[in-house]
Formats: sequence, structure tokens, C-alpha cells
Amino acid sequence: MPVTLVVGAQWGDEGKGRIIDWLSSSASVVARFGGGANAGHTVRVGERTYKLRIVPSGVIAGVEHCIIGPGTVVSPSSLIAELESLRAGGVDVSHVWLSDLAHLILPYHIELDASSERSLGGAALGTTGNGIGPAYVDRAARTGIRAGDLADMPRCLEMLAARTQTARAAGAAVDLKVMTSDLTRHAQALLPHVRDTVSLLHDQLEAGKRVLAEGAQGTLLDVNLGTYPFVTSSVTVSGGACTGLGFGPKEVEHVVGVAKAYCTRVGAGPFPSELNDDTGEALRERGLEFGVVTGRPRRCGWLDLAALRYAVQINGLTHLAMTKLDVLDGFAEISVGVGYEGQDASAFPFVLARGAKPRYKQLRGWSQPTSGARAWEQLPSAARDYVEFVESHTRTPISYVSVGPERSQIIVRPGAPQLS
Ligand code: IMP
Repeated sequence: MPVTLVVGAQWGDEGKGRIIDWLSSSASVVARFGGGANAGHTVRVGERTYKLRIVPSGVIAGVEHCIIGPGTVVSPSSLIAELESLRAGGVDVSHVWLSDLAHLILPYHIELDASSERSLGGAALGTTGNGIGPAYVDRAARTGIRAGDLADMPRCLEMLAARTQTARAAGAAVDLKVMTSDLTRHAQALLPHVRDTVSLLHDQLEAGKRVLAEGAQGTLLDVNLGTYPFVTSSVTVSGGACTGLGFGPKEVEHVVGVAKAYCTRVGAGPFPSELNDDTGEALRERGLEFGVVTGRPRRCGWLDLAALRYAVQINGLTHLAMTKLDVLDGFAEISVGVGYEGQDASAFPFVLARGAKPRYKQLRGWSQPTSGARAWEQLPSAARDYVEFVESHTRTPISYVSVGPERSQIIVRPGAPQLS
């Protein structure tokens, strides 16, 4: 079974890009299955930091094919800018393929995202403002424009004109002339990258090539299973890889969930273990918890194992990767949420919306820095205990532990998926 799937196990920003970058070294194909440029994956190689929005993280490792799949929504201008900045950084982007079935995010989607947030007032979701929700609305309403439509520009522009009328009626102040000339120019730049990625993927699977399916955002932001309505508009859980790329579950061998050693969340919505105190501030400063896409400070808190257990179940996680363990260095004691006060953690995610308060277990911290550790045995024993506690509570092996942003700072434990 040639597919390994990597998903975020919390509220996004778990460090998936680094784990995908590491696994990419032995994959032939890396494919993004959902979301859009609302995601921000950071990959650091040596002195260089790459910030990816929609292009799969495998592009840095130079995999044979990088696919932006049918389940994604893509802004032409933002993808072109991302490809240009990767090129400028010396990355070969000639093998980045945009599915002809992926939906386009156009300027009116961005306008509608902003106006919808404004109209929600105090109940705003805190979206990334990239037009993700309105683009998925158009897809569901069957009024979207797809990347494959760019191949027939006259028809595509007719669709654009029709959609602009509807968007204007909904309050979007957009200029059709500007959009027409921009889209015509963008089509020229993008068409060499647009193709039928479903058959490409199946050719690769039939040839026995290793495929890495890359999730975006996180489990608790899933439109069906997350903390609705404070979620994104796509399927972020592992099942979304099949529908978002066009293959069946029988192809999947490993499902890796990436979770930080603590929790963060951007935007509004329930977050029971959030710390609005000096400890939360310390986590934010040490963990550099500011959004890659929006620059917003992230909300920070202790690890919530009830939420993580839910992520294990609904994704069918076979392995976990724990990132940013080094951020916990120096805490005398570390709290871990193991359930909710007086609440049944099985009523997930409604339990969160009811104002659940975590039940904490205190674990001992460690004073030695972990960032220099390159092997499991080099971690302080309290840090190993912490990882093992999470493993036993989630009943899932933590096969990767990261202790810093460099590729070399990922400790790979026995039994971890190796794609070669
Ligand atoms: P949207 O995806 O821009 O519509 O935003 C919906 C919610 O998902 C907001 O709370 C965002 O902050 C959150 N969100 C979207 N993408 C990411 C991400 O990549 N990391 C973390 N949160 C995200």
C-alpha cells in the first residue's frame, strides 16, 4: 500500500510541513488534498526558511511530482506569487501540478469572506481572509470556476462575468474588467501546471511509487467533525485525502497525525486548555506562535489529550509526530488535559462548545535543553516520560519527536514509517 497520509491532529499549525519535508525525501509524489492558501507550512533547511501556502511541502525536497489536488481551492495570483518566490529561492517548480478539478478563488471570494466576517460582528470566525469559505460555497452551489476551465478562456470569462453579477448582488465591489485581464494573464502562467492529476496519481500508484498525501489545517478545523462553526470549509481529516485526490482507502498504509507538545489555535472558537496568563505568553514567545499567513498571535495552552484521542479515532492515526517538544524545556511542571470536569469527553466536539474545563494531570518538567538531542536516549528522562504518557493515553506510537526547526532536529523512533 503505497500511500502515507499526514494530517494535523489539533487546530492547525502543528508543524506538518517539517514532517512532510522529512518523509518527502523518500516519496515520489506529494499531494495536497484540501484547503487553500489559508494554510502556512514552514520548512527550514540550513539557513533558508521556506514559507509555503498551497504548494505541497515536498517541493523543497525535490520530489518527482507535487500535486495540488481536486479538493483544494486555489487563488491564481497567490499560487503564481508562491511559485515565483520558490523559483527565486532556487527551488525547481516545473513538477508542481494543479488539478484541473481544483476550484479557483477569485477576488469576489475574498471580498465576500471579509463582508461575511463583518456581518457576523462579535461572532466572527476569524478566518484567514483568503476567500476559502466563499470558494467552497460556490463549489457546493455548482457555480464555481475550476482550473481546467482556464483552458477555454472565452467560456471561462463568460462564467466569470456571470459569477461577478451574483457576487456584486451579494455586496462584493469587484471590477470585472480588472478581473478579466488578470485572469487572462494568470491563465497563461498557470496552464503549464494544470493537468489531470487523478490519472497522474494512479499511474504513479500502479508503478508502485510512494505517495505522500499532505493535509492542511487540523482535525478540529474539519468542516464535518471539527468545532463547527469555528472551522474551515474543507475536509481536513484523513478521509478527505481519498475524496480530495481521487483514490480509494485500500491504498493507504500509514496515517501520521502531527501534534504539538502543547496546543495552539488561531481565530475564534472553543479551546478548553487555553492559557490567558504568563504561561500562555511564555509558550507563545518560546514557540514563536504567530500565524505564517496572517501574522496573528496564536492562542496557546496545554496539550489536550481528550481532543488528541478524538483526532486519533477519526483519522485512524497509526502514528503520531510530536513537534516543538523543546518549547516545554524549563517548565518545572507541565499540565496535560486528560478529560473535562464533569463532562463526558465522548460527546466530542459538542463538549467543547459547552464550555468544557479540562481536568489536568501534572507531569514533572525538565530543565535541560532538548534541542541538541538527536536520539531518544539523549532526551531528559522527564521529557521521555512526557512523550510516553501521551503515547499511552492516546494508544498511538509517537514515532517522530521534533526538538527544533531544523531537519536534523527530528528524532525518529523505531517503527516510524520510512517510505523507501
Ligand atoms: P478560513 O479557512 O480562512 O475560512 O478560516 C476558518 C478558521 O480556520 C479560522 O479560525 C482560521 O484561523 C482557521 N484556519 C484556517 N487555516 C488555518 C491554518 O492553516 N492554521 C490554523 N488555523 C487555520
